[in-house]
Amino acid sequence: MMQRSKIAGIGYYVPKNIYTNSDLSRFMETSDEWIQERTGIKERRFADRLEETTTTMGVEAAKIAIERAGITAQDVDFIIFATLSPDYYFPGCGVLLQREMKMKEIGALDIRNQCSGFIYALSVADQFIKTGMYKNILVVGSEKHSFAMDFETRSRNVSVIFGDGAGAVVLQPTSKDGQGILSTHLHSDGADAELLAMFYPGSNANKWLKNKPPYPDQELGGLFLTTEQLEGGAALPYMDGPAVFKKAVVKFPEVIKEALAANDKSEKDIDLLVPHQANLRISQYVQQLLGLPDEKVFNNIQKYGNTTAASIPIALCEAWESGKIKDGDLVCLAAFGSGFTWASALIQW
Ligand code: UT7
Repeated sequence: MMQRSKIAGIGYYVPKNIYTNSDLSRFMETSDEWIQERTGIKERRFADRLEETTTTMGVEAAKIAIERAGITAQDVDFIIFATLSPDYYFPGCGVLLQREMKMKEIGALDIRNQCSGFIYALSVADQFIKTGMYKNILVVGSEKHSFAMDFETRSRNVSVIFGDGAGAVVLQPTSKDGQGILSTHLHSDGADAELLAMFYPGSNANKWLKNKPPYPDQELGGLFLTTEQLEGGAALPYMDGPAVFKKAVVKFPEVIKEALAANDKSEKDIDLLVPHQANLRISQYVQQLLGLPDEKVFNNIQKYGNTTAASIPIALCEAWESGKIKDGDLVCLAAFGSGFTWASALIQW
């Protein structure tokens, strides 16, 4: 049988700056009541505007994961970094983390699958371990959403949901019977790609502007915004919340059931479901559909908001630290988000 991979170490990092719902209502027309009722979120963390980046938060989470795996940064033989809020448009955060952690000249891959990014990254890492190509893969999910968020009322449906943070795991081969990642299932449907998107900077971004940029007399080029367009919010993320919600509540259960069926297991075999923390109402709906009791679903969106690619590793780490995951437990990860993309992973801990 092909060798499986296990999570040998896990860590997370969240910025210390806490913003409660009431804090946000200083900037925009919203309320603690509205946010809690629709999303379950009470507070979120925002990175220091200058000192902290997606990479630096990823590094902090990685240090813990590496130490818990019993290795050093020098032992890591491949980096996979999932984020939708990279430090730069290019190059990606993988190489920045490699530099920051003084790692060897190993491969560094960036994954752009938004809320499903961590499971996609885990799946890629799993394949490299199974084939024997690498022995210590660092998988990071990190987001600094706050850099691109607008705290005016016009953006309140987006800016009350998202928060900053990072999580990381070290994946290693395991020879222990039954242990490890049992399967990953990855999906996408680009039909609704623009329902949750950030168009700028992008080579087709102008297509989505209400007022096209007035090109000056020039033969080449054209990716720019006028000051009016910038002020009008043309470079901000866009989300059709209700459309995303409706699709999420279908695809989460579907991809979880797919994972269970592929492993001849059923809902009652799950010891802990760690869903991507998109919205507490989505997690509760999925829990109800699957018939899982409260103690078998882990949620921490109340404290951190939606941290996209970081949400699963942060939640998984908190669950593990608080003793909710024991050796041999069946842990299910599931995510849905922009793309749309969705995914699941089933892990025997
Ligand atoms: O990680 C994966 C990606 N994202 C998601 O999974 C998000 C999925 N969607 C959602 O979580 C929900 O759609 C939201 C929480 C984003 C929005 O909740 P909703 O119940 O779908 O609200 P809505 O967008 O339909 O807006 C309802 C009303 C609107 O007012 P009117 O037009 O009815 O007068 C909004 O303007 O609520 C208003 N509204 C707000 N009011 C106070 C929207 N955001 C806010 C706000 N505070 N922050």
